[in-house]
Amino acid sequence: MTRAATTRVLFVCLGNICRSPTAHGVFQHMVDTRNLGHCVEVDSCGTAHWHIGEPPDERSVQEAAQRGYDLSALRGRQVSAQDFVTFDYILAMDRANLSALEAMAPADFDGHLGLFLAFAPTAGIEEVPDPYYGGASGFSHVLDLVEEASAGLLETLSTQGRLSDAP
Ligand code: 4NP
Repeated sequence: MTRAATTRVLFVCLGNICRSPTAHGVFQHMVDTRNLGHCVEVDSCGTAHWHIGEPPDERSVQEAAQRGYDLSALRGRQVSAQDFVTFDYILAMDRANLSALEAMAPADFDGHLGLFLAFAPTAGIEEVPDPYYGGASGFSHVLDLVEEASAGLLETLSTQGRLSDAP
């Protein structure tokens, strides 16, 4: 089955400078390398307002760059009511952010709101740990988890018939 509709995916963390920009960059890279940009759009944001307009944390940028992902053009923004109109998948990095999103979601939101790591069932962990106050290994761990969940998400979208060949 193929669909003409675009599937819009939003990754959400607290600050939108570490975890969700990492997911944004990794998943965007998968979409681009598979020529799926016509049917999947990707964005990220934070539940907090602290880093609006800022580039991702340099440690996230460096860790991602070592694995071939470019996060440098991303800029922080805060989640808004419009996001529940625009996006089909709203994926939180942890339960605290999921709770904040659930509190904001309108009753008629008919998209998927859940934890990103639900798409990485073999990771053995349900939340992406916040690396902000930790060392370099935390940023590497975020990349490991994000790569696995991104592959799982893309597989799910494929199974749902949301991915079509380029027109
Ligand atoms: P993120 O990490 O939610 O993965 O972007 C954080 C970034 C900034 C802060 C906390 C977490 N902060 O306290 O400023």
